[in-house]
Order: sequence, then structure tokens, then C-alpha cells
Amino acid sequence: MMWFSVVLVFVGALVAGGNANPTTMLEPYDTIIIGMGAAGCTAASTLSKAGKKVLALEAMDRVGGRVNTVPFGDGVVELGAEWIHGQFPSRVYDLAIQNNVTILPQEMDFDVYRSDGSAGEKEVLNDLLLFSLGVVDDPPEVPEPLGQYITRRLTDYIKTKYPHLLNDKDFIENLLQFIDLVIDNYESSNSWNDVSTQSRYEELGGHQHMSWHRNGYKTLFQILLNTYNNGPGYPNLEIKLKKEVTQISWPQDPAQDVVVTCKDGTSYRARNVIVTVSLGVLKERHTTLFTPPLPQEKVTSIEKMSIGVEGKVILLFDTVSWHSNASWFLYLWKTIDRTEISEEDGWIAKIDEAGVPMGCSNTISLWLSGDRAKLVETLPEDVVKRKVMELIRRFMGKNRTIPEPIAMLRSSWYSNPYTRGSYTYDNILTPQYPNARATLAEPLVDRSGTPRVLFAGEATDNTHFSTVHGATDTGFREASRLLPQAKL
Ligand SMILES: Cc1cc2nc3c(=O)[nH]c(=O)nc-3n(C[C@H](O)[C@H](O)[C@H](O)COP(=O)(O)OP(=O)(O)OC[C@H]3O[C@@H](n4cnc5c(N)ncnc54)[C@H](O)[C@@H]3O)c2cc1C
Ligand SMILES: *[C@@H]1O[C@H](CO)[C@@H](O)[C@H](O)[C@H]1NC(C)=O
Ligand SMILES: *[C@@H]1O[C@H](CO)[C@@H](O)[C@H](O)[C@H]1NC(C)=O
Ligand SMILES: *[C@@H]1O[C@H](CO)[C@@H](O)[C@H](O)[C@H]1NC(C)=O
Repeated sequence: MMWFSVVLVFVGALVAGGNANPTTMLEPYDTIIIGMGAAGCTAASTLSKAGKKVLALEAMDRVGGRVNTVPFGDGVVELGAEWIHGQFPSRVYDLAIQNNVTILPQEMDFDVYRSDGSAGEKEVLNDLLLFSLGVVDDPPEVPEPLGQYITRRLTDYIKTKYPHLLNDKDFIENLLQFIDLVIDNYESSNSWNDVSTQSRYEELGGHQHMSWHRNGYKTLFQILLNTYNNGPGYPNLEIKLKKEVTQISWPQDPAQDVVVTCKDGTSYRARNVIVTVSLGVLKERHTTLFTPPLPQEKVTSIEKMSIGVEGKVILLFDTVSWHSNASWFLYLWKTIDRTEISEEDGWIAKIDEAGVPMGCSNTISLWLSGDRAKLVETLPEDVVKRKVMELIRRFMGKNRTIPEPIAMLRSSWYSNPYTRGSYTYDNILTPQYPNARATLAEPLVDRSGTPRVLFAGEATDNTHFSTVHGATDTGFREASRLLPQAKL
């Protein structure tokens, strides 16, 4: 096996020599960064500032990865990450403030609608929701599926605080379904029972929903790459878009370079590489991506960890007829209405919330997770539009006429071969594999113990996974690994 891989490295170098700039061959890059999302851009920025010669290879035609700000209506909407979750300490929040970008808190006020068009009881639902989200911080001694635990704790709570509600079987049944969906939208899980009570996720301090509003989350990437406000970028950072990496050959011999080969046949050499592709991409292609293959413990991490799917369907209207300052509309079904929905349209009964984006007027954004989100990515445009309008009119159209939308956008984080999911969560195997994230984060070293292939990205952060600030921290962590402390 060893002999075989050495030959591959040699062939890779020859191929590169055939069609790459000869100076590139004579003078390989210090570091190649694979993927230019939050982790990759932070690593690129950190290494470029320290004077390293850096090449960034990004498969998509844009930087940002799972952050994607797109023009919409009179402003922008976010198909991926929307908020800075917490302010202290946050590299992301700090960068915005240091660059005088206004960041606005989005208050999580909501209006509740029932499926028969009536208004729901906001105070009670708010209390039950806060209780359910709160018990996550008070986990059971023996880990169990989160939904099972919340159901037990919530039932006890209702017994003591709202005993009359226990007779309302319809309400309780639909409440539990609703909270399942709320949890899924947080975790990107398919079911709240796919999530473990033993999550190591830690919230940052400060406001949890800070918005880039009309500036768009894309501003973060301009700041990171020094192009914000017509900044000049970094002269020692070369970014190549539409460059899908297909193979990373890493040497045991300290004298040899890492060789990175792209789908278009080009290859590049560097002392080391930082891989920032998502867990979804690693799951799908780790066997072909790395030569020699990844060590078994890393493969186990990749296989046992979970990445879920979170999706949005975003609608633009000429005018909106709901006069409300709420930033969320929550949809709570009644069983009689839910049973009207055909099995084929089951996904529509699993949309429980619509958010009001801050980057654009007259817009709402329907949230979906898990298998429903995967399915909606594949349905015809007109079917999605018709069904979601039926849903919105059912819940919010009783006392008003809701016009047809003038535009619709939806995300495709699962279909996208360069993401294959939205973000990771701590699944029910987490108690059995508590070090999975840390193992994934470990670099591959050569015979001398020098890191040659490093791993960053949201999934590799023990406590801030699933976020932009977590991804950013991991990019900084891996860049720092390559820098003598004095240069930071
Ligand atoms: C719908 C949605 C909502 C979210 N909401 C929030 C939120 O409100 N707040 C928050 O903090 N986080 C949120 N997140 C999570 C956040 O977006 C991610 O955690 C973060 O952006 C991940 O960054 P990353 O650098 O780890 O990975 P990525 O952004 O996935 O970057 C990896 C890059 O690698 C590239 N790549 C993949 N394969 C290859 C290849 N073979 N060759 C070259 N390049 C490749 C990809 O194209 C991508 O650009 C949300 C995510 C989604 C999808
Ligand atoms: C931000 O604003 C302050 C005060 O106006 C100014 O001193 C500072 O230079 C600005 N910073 C940037 C990065 O524009
Ligand atoms: C619509 O109007 C009816 C009658 O006034 C009322 O009972 C119902 O709660 C209203 N629906 C909403 C969502 O406000
Ligand atoms: C929305 O907020 C504004 C300003 O605080 C207030 O004047 C208005 O009455 C509110 N509208 C509703 C429907 O609550």
C-alpha cells in the first residue's frame, strides 16, 4: 500500500508538470485550502496575513459555502445561514463590529395560527416552547433520544401547570408534533428522536439572533478576504473557483509535497492542505478523496456522525396583508385538518413555521428539515409554489386575501454535491462516540510527525458545530497549527 501511494504521488507531480505553470512546480504553495466557506476563508485570511503563499480551491462558482446571500425583491435573502448565533466571544460578530457593519438583533416574537384559520393561544404556546427548549440544558443522567425526554418532561409540566390541557388530546398530540418540528429546525434532524440529550453544543453569550439584514451574510466573506469596501484582497492568496478537488495525495516522506488533483485534470502541490468540505461530502467521497485512505478511526467518525438537512422556501409578495411586527408565524395543526392532507403531500403538514427575513421587504420564508427538506428540493417549482400557498392561505388567510407570490426561491443543500446536507448535530450515537468530532479534527501527519492534511469545518468543532462562528473558529484553529505562535 505504501509503495503504491508513493508511485501515485510521483505520477501526480508529473501530470502537474505537464500542464501547470513551471514556476508553480518549482515553488509549491505553502498551503492549499480546499473549500472556501467560513472555515476555508478564515484559514485563508489567517495564513495570508502571516505571509504564507496560499492557494484556495473551491468547487462552486462562489465563495461562502453554506452561506449564500442572494439578491431578492428590494434587498437580499439568505438561502443558508441567516444569523450570528451569539455575540460573546464571536470572531464573526467582532469582525462585523470592527468593520463598522451594523448588525441588528431579530427578536423572536411570534404569532400563532391554527389550521382552521383561528388565532392560537400565544402565551401558553410560548411557555410550553420555552420549557421544552430549556430542558435541553438539564439533560437526564442516562442519555436518551431528545424527543422522548422532552415528551416526558413536558407532560409532567403540563400536568402541574395546565392540567385542563391534558383532556385536550388533539392539542397535546399536535403540540408534540409541533415541538418535534421546532427541534428539527434547530438541529436539521429528521426527527427529534434522532438527536441525543447528550449534546455538547454550547451557546455563546449575548443575543442569539443577530442579523446582517440588508448587508447580507456575504459581507463576512468580503471582510475575511480583505475585499470589503474595495479592499485589495491578499496578494499572496490565489483563489480558484469551479475547481472541484478529486484527490489529495499526502506523503509519509517529509521531503515530499502534498499533491491535490482537480476534476479538470490540473494538480497543485503544497507543503500541507486544509480540508474544509462538509461532513456530507466526506461521507460521500472520503474513500476516493484521500490517497492513502483515511485511518480507520477517522472513517468511524465520518460514518457515525450525522449531518441533517435544513431548507427554506422563500416567497416574495407585492404587498403583505398580515399587519404584524412578529418575526415568526407558527403553524399549529388540528388533527382533523391534518388528516385531509394526502400522503404524497405529507411534507406540507410538517411545515410549522414561517420566518420574516430582515434583508428584504414583503418576504416570508418557510422552514423545513430532514426528509421533508430533501423531498422539496426535488419537486417541480409549480407544485411547491401551489402547495405552500395552500398552506399559508389555510393558516393565515381566514380574514384576509393573500395574493399570489411574485417570486419564489428555495434552497438545495442536500442535492448540492458540494454540501450534501446543511449542518451536523449530535445524534444518538454521540454518547458511544464522544470523541468523534475531535478525531475528525486531527491532522494526518507524515513520518516526522508534521501535519500534512488538516481538517477544519463546522463538524470539527466540539461545542460550536452547526454554526458559522464555529466553522470560523476551526479555520483559525487549523491555520494557527501551521504558524509559529510569534506570527499570529
Ligand atoms: C439553511 C441553513 C441555515 C443555517 N443557519 C445558520 C445560522 O443562522 N447561523 C449560523 O451560525 N449557522 C447557520 N447554518 C450553518 C452554517 O451555514 C455552517 O455551519 C457553516 O457555514 C459551515 O461552514 P464550513 O466552512 O464548515 O463549510 P462550507 O460552508 O460547506 O464550506 C465548504 C466548502 O467546500 C467546498 N467543497 C466541497 N467539496 C469540494 C471539493 N471536492 N473541492 C473543492 N471544494 C469543495 C464547498 O463548495 C464549500 O464552499 C445554516 C446552514 C444552512 C444550510
Ligand atoms: C469605524 O468607525 C470608526 C469611528 O467612525 C473609525 O474610527 C474607524 O476607522 C472605522 N473602521 C473601519 C474599518 O472603517
Ligand atoms: C378571523 O376572524 C374570526 C372572526 O372574527 C376570529 O374568530 C379568528 O380568530 C380570526 N383569525 C385570526 C387568525 O385572527
Ligand atoms: C408594530 O410596531 C410599531 C412600532 O413599535 C407600532 O407602532 C405598531 O402598532 C405595531 N404594529 C402591530 C400590528 O403590532
